[in-house]
Amino acid sequence: RNVPESRRHYRYPWHMTDPQLVLTERVQQALAAAFGAEYSDADPLIRPSQFADYQANVAMSLSKRLRRAPREVAQEIADRLTAESAFPGTVEVSGPGFLNITLDDSWIAGQAAEILADPRTGVAAASAPQTVVIDYSAPNAAKEMHVGHLRTTIVGDALVRVHEHLGNKVVRQNHLGDWGTPFGMLIEHLLDIGEEAAIAQLEAGEGNEYYQAARVKFDSDPEFNKRARARVVTLQAEEPETMRLWHLFMDATVRYFNKVYHRLGVTLTDEDIAGESMYNAMLSQVCDELQDRGIAVVSDGALCVFPPGYTGREGQPLPFMIRKSDGGYGYATTDMATIRYRVQDLKADRILYVIGATQALHMSMLFDSARIAGWLPDHVRAEHVQIGSVLGSDGKMFKTRSGKSIKLLDLLDEADVRAAAVIADREYDDAARAEIAHAVGMGAVKYADLSVSHDSEYVFDFDRMLALTGNTGPYLQYATARIRSIFRRGGVAPAEATGPIVLGHPAERALALRLLGFGAAVEEMAEGSAPHKVATFLFETASAFTAFYENCPVLKEGVDEATRASRLALCALTLRVLETGLDLLGVPVPERM
Ligand code: ARG
Repeated sequence: RNVPESRRHYRYPWHMTDPQLVLTERVQQALAAAFGAEYSDADPLIRPSQFADYQANVAMSLSKRLRRAPREVAQEIADRLTAESAFPGTVEVSGPGFLNITLDDSWIAGQAAEILADPRTGVAAASAPQTVVIDYSAPNAAKEMHVGHLRTTIVGDALVRVHEHLGNKVVRQNHLGDWGTPFGMLIEHLLDIGEEAAIAQLEAGEGNEYYQAARVKFDSDPEFNKRARARVVTLQAEEPETMRLWHLFMDATVRYFNKVYHRLGVTLTDEDIAGESMYNAMLSQVCDELQDRGIAVVSDGALCVFPPGYTGREGQPLPFMIRKSDGGYGYATTDMATIRYRVQDLKADRILYVIGATQALHMSMLFDSARIAGWLPDHVRAEHVQIGSVLGSDGKMFKTRSGKSIKLLDLLDEADVRAAAVIADREYDDAARAEIAHAVGMGAVKYADLSVSHDSEYVFDFDRMLALTGNTGPYLQYATARIRSIFRRGGVAPAEATGPIVLGHPAERALALRLLGFGAAVEEMAEGSAPHKVATFLFETASAFTAFYENCPVLKEGVDEATRASRLALCALTLRVLETGLDLLGVPVPERM
């Protein structure tokens, strides 16, 4: 079978339901039959078409290789395709050599019925499950979690969900910034203001204010400065009393992060915390080993790896510095220890670093240095899932009017209030209204992060993300709730709507054809770390459903029994696809809206 390489580890014959993959396979067989086995893995270039369901563009590129006219090549492929009795459609040659392919209604209906009967809704389970380590969220203690961390949290959590759904083993790693020299002054400040006051402030998410107060004293008060420096030494040595204070500080900080996680409905828990502190004891050994093996060398007093291919402005090789000239370790040292741990101890097959795009150079040098050290073998995929910045309406980093970064819980509160306004005209009691507003507000914020490619920047705009039309969370939530209400009104459970499916109206056919692509969209999301692939697919599905629902009455008086059964089955399949897809994105669906 000519299943693309990246898809070979999926067991379920789901490529049998995705039309684009079915056609890829069929055209490749025809190519082999017509021109010889060496053409069996040429890409047939199947694309959606304006004039048919799909078009194959391969004849044009092959004509050069075959030294024959493109239309002639196209005709030969078409003949081979349709000579096969089981070809599920018709093929026409058009223009300079396009193959226009129209699938049979009965084939589309049959495929849709198969997905409807499949408990996995056409999403393949991995046949050889992988261990996927996902590094995401990773806020810094004593600094407020900002919208950037919100985005890595939301995108990372969607990737967790999709890999778990495919049956991969997922290890979440919340690489908290919980260690380093600032902790000397943070602990001394804790002693100054008292444990209770410090805990209260940190639990309330005022880590920034706390940090700034400590910083002012550090810069202006020599006695405090001296204490803070001494504290760093006892911290490095993991002296018990210092560690007790560090734990007090971190526990209060993590309680605040957990509030945000809970509020967002993300799957991170305390178990997933593997912060920078965890690697402290490994750092000297990491440096010694790399130095002994000649992989790191001392340059200007600092210990550095020089991975090839990185040069500075004057053409000088760029260092990946793992020990500063003062003997201190840094971010790079920790990440070297981390990657080794993930490969050797966690047994990762794939590691996803869901981190800001601004860290691209660091990540790239890290991966290269780890490969050189043999700590990242070729068979382990390490990827930086670059997260683009979230901007304010002024095009700069998202901040409040006073220039401070925005507190996440306040932002989510505001989303709730604005979402309540969106559904103000609905007749619900206060409790129901609050619940829906919460799901809609949070869904809107999360979907805004997920519906654009993860590395693009976008402008944070409540009005746009809360709109009930367009590619938004609320639109998809509304579409889903509306299908549920069809079943409520019809007095049928979605599980009972089993068809048979018969396609009559073009809008019905278009919806069914769209639904066949769900498995492929999910797999693309996992393969490419691209939640927006599923988001786009769901948006197109909901749009196709809207057109269907406008044109094809389901419950109306006068709709015959068979048509009603078929349309209810399409509603049920659409509902399952939307529910499953939104769940993979971590976007909640209110029962009514
Ligand atoms: N704490 C870092 C930050 O806020 C992100 C850490 C990402 N993970 C890593 N292994 N470097 O930018």
